[in-house]
Amino acid sequence: MGEGLLTSHRDAAPRAEAGFVRRDGWLHADAVALADIAGFAGTPAYVYSASVVRAQYARLDAALEGVPHRLHYSVKANGNLALLALLRELGAGVDIVSAGELYRAQRAGFGGRDVVFSGVGKTVTELEQAVAADVKLVNVESEAELRLLADVARRVGRVVPVALRVNPEVEVETAHHYTRTGARGDKFGIPYDEAREVARLASSLEGIRLAGLDMHIGSQLTRIEPYADGLARLLELRANIDADGGGEGLRYLDIGGGLGVTYDAESEADLDAFARIVVPAAKASGLELVMEPGRFLVGNAGVLLTRVLYRKRSGGKDYVITDAGMTELLRPSHYNAFHRIEPIGPAGEAGVVDVVGPVCESGDFFARDRSLGDVEPGDLLAISSAGAYGAVMSSQYNARPRVPEILVDGERVALARERESFEDLVRHENATPEWRTL
Ligand code: LLP
Repeated sequence: MGEGLLTSHRDAAPRAEAGFVRRDGWLHADAVALADIAGFAGTPAYVYSASVVRAQYARLDAALEGVPHRLHYSVKANGNLALLALLRELGAGVDIVSAGELYRAQRAGFGGRDVVFSGVGKTVTELEQAVAADVKLVNVESEAELRLLADVARRVGRVVPVALRVNPEVEVETAHHYTRTGARGDKFGIPYDEAREVARLASSLEGIRLAGLDMHIGSQLTRIEPYADGLARLLELRANIDADGGGEGLRYLDIGGGLGVTYDAESEADLDAFARIVVPAAKASGLELVMEPGRFLVGNAGVLLTRVLYRKRSGGKDYVITDAGMTELLRPSHYNAFHRIEPIGPAGEAGVVDVVGPVCESGDFFARDRSLGDVEPGDLLAISSAGAYGAVMSSQYNARPRVPEILVDGERVALARERESFEDLVRHENATPEWRTL
């Protein structure tokens, strides 16, 4: 893909055709009809709107205007290289959780100083790679990880900037308990009552510079207040670290990701309220604010486009069977997550149906008892809010090649990831492997 694809509209004001809107009854991504994209790329396919990503980035960036800050996009939400490149052009850094994500970020043009490295189970190799890449922060989640990192740093004669990821032990509400991370006893972060001691240790270790404090309290947060509670705890810890004489090198206050988006009727994150909590506190601290938003930037920038294969009645239920399934979008099955589903064109009178995929699992569903306009085999559906934790969580189960990802920008369309081939399914396998004894 050419550079110009992402740069040419960078400074343009939001345009009327931005995002997923209907024109003459047909759903479009920016200015392009989804029906045309299905013709171009086939189905199933992910379709992303660059305009929506830009708009979300600009909104969050503007909300934090009052304080020095950087948005480190959380690659796990969607690591497609073209999306990463777009976010890099907008000024984002990245938040990564593996050496694989570091590789992706580097391939998209990010430098080490653009990277904060989170994650509860970093391997020694990953720590070595992070040190070699000269990342901005390693967000350390335990005393053992801190000691291991200090060993790595000493071995290569470097001093590594570290943020302590603290579990602030606050109450959060999320749609599913799998996406809560900041409550007492969760596997993530350093338990709050140990954090001061770990900070003392960090200050004493050669090879470590205590450069930041970090939290991440959960994902798809529907209330803003937990940020206030978590921030208060981080700042209390900072005061204790100062009292211990270890606060000198502190530069960053990382408040993680978690801002929710609208999937259904829920109100979206109140950015003004969020800014009223975060900006004054961060400003008073004199630290640079770091955020790790994932879903907020890309969640509503993507749809999964799928074709109806069959209609079927069974046991009094009306099924719509699609060519996409849990292999493409796992969230309904895994978290019982709600995703809006709509025919991309005019449809007959709505009926109550289950929308299910072709995978051999009863858990392979997108919606149950959902009102959907009357559709026939061959019709196309858009499954909304699929830009975050969609493609990245897909699998090849049932030997289903991964689907293409299309980036739309105004009137232009680019193939950001090709559909996998059958050859891709077996690329790393060998029907007649070489036998050996070890
Ligand atoms: N930072 C850290 C350390 C994280 O663990 C996460 C997400 C983020 C940032 C980004 O959070 P966001 O802004 O996207 O809420 N697969 C689940 C979501 C898992 C989130 C894991 N951590 C889902 O589909 O809802």
